[in-house]
Amino acid sequence: MPVSDFELTHMFERVLTLSKVDATQSVAVLKSDYSNPRIAKAAMDAAQRLGAKVFGVELPAFNHPKAMGLDMTAYCGDTPLTGNLAAQRALEAADLIVDTMMLLHSPEQEQILKTGTRILLAVEPPEVLARMLPTEEDKARVVAAAERLKRARSIAVTSKAGTDFRARLGQYPTVTEYGFADEPGRWDHWPSGFLFSWPDEGSGEGTLVLDVGDILLPFKTYTRETITLEIEEGFIRRIHGGFEAEYLRDYMAYFKDPEVYGISHIGWGLQPRAQWTAMGLHDKNDGMCMDARAFYGNFLFSTGPNTEVGGSRKTPCHMDIPLRGCDIHLDGEPVVLAGDVVAPEASRAP
Ligand SMILES: [Fe+2]
Repeated sequence: MPVSDFELTHMFERVLTLSKVDATQSVAVLKSDYSNPRIAKAAMDAAQRLGAKVFGVELPAFNHPKAMGLDMTAYCGDTPLTGNLAAQRALEAADLIVDTMMLLHSPEQEQILKTGTRILLAVEPPEVLARMLPTEEDKARVVAAAERLKRARSIAVTSKAGTDFRARLGQYPTVTEYGFADEPGRWDHWPSGFLFSWPDEGSGEGTLVLDVGDILLPFKTYTRETITLEIEEGFIRRIHGGFEAEYLRDYMAYFKDPEVYGISHIGWGLQPRAQWTAMGLHDKNDGMCMDARAFYGNFLFSTGPNTEVGGSRKTPCHMDIPLRGCDIHLDGEPVVLAGDVVAPEASRAP
């Protein structure tokens, strides 16, 4: 059901307050031709109501000739900000950027964050933003899980469908997404509610079996048949199954880049207001389907880039693959069993 502009502005006031925006702060609203104008306006209005100094940065849209589809996660690396140093400097001058355009996975985003500027991405439909309006409780649960993931040196994921995957951890940091940007240099995404890290280089091994009903992003499809990914030394070496495996194989091969088969972030979902079913109720170009990435107890596997944590894998193809019904163990201790969060206790939803 539609959210009113009044309510959208009110929600932005809440999220910007959680993001420590007040009268001492400057806020930039980053937008492009394809941004949702209601979201950009609500962000501007809400920041003004909080007394912040507000300005807009509008950039012409950029389309890479190799990109397929309109999903902003389907081509990583280049954005409308690429090479536009003047706009980048203006954004770096702000305390917080509301990104309605999508800088994620770009080197410019990392450079901006290093200056201490905070970034809050908001590109989902207002109704999705409303259902997953972030709270301090969301943060507390994600942070509790992050304390455990930070200490972990190994992850093992299994499932009844046949998944048997393991990797070493510790080379890369743990990243939290809880829906607001409340610390200098923090990037976050409203809506969220999950956490992840990256496997140590070359350490991912085993088999990932996507069962019927698991999700492939950015395809925004529920799998209707099993797809098996065989992983060796941190790379997917074989993809097999039926038509859907063939589709995935062909899509990844299109990029003609061996790096697309590397493993990117892996973690689990902690947001009880994110729904596995939500994707089926939206058109493909409504948003980027954060429900699928964040739903409670998922195992979120992904492929491709690791540049945002200092890795060297810069590749445009990024698949996010949330799986249901998995067991996830850290150093032999369960955190998720059969798709339900079991530990740490403080990370579980009431
Ligand atoms: Fe991702």
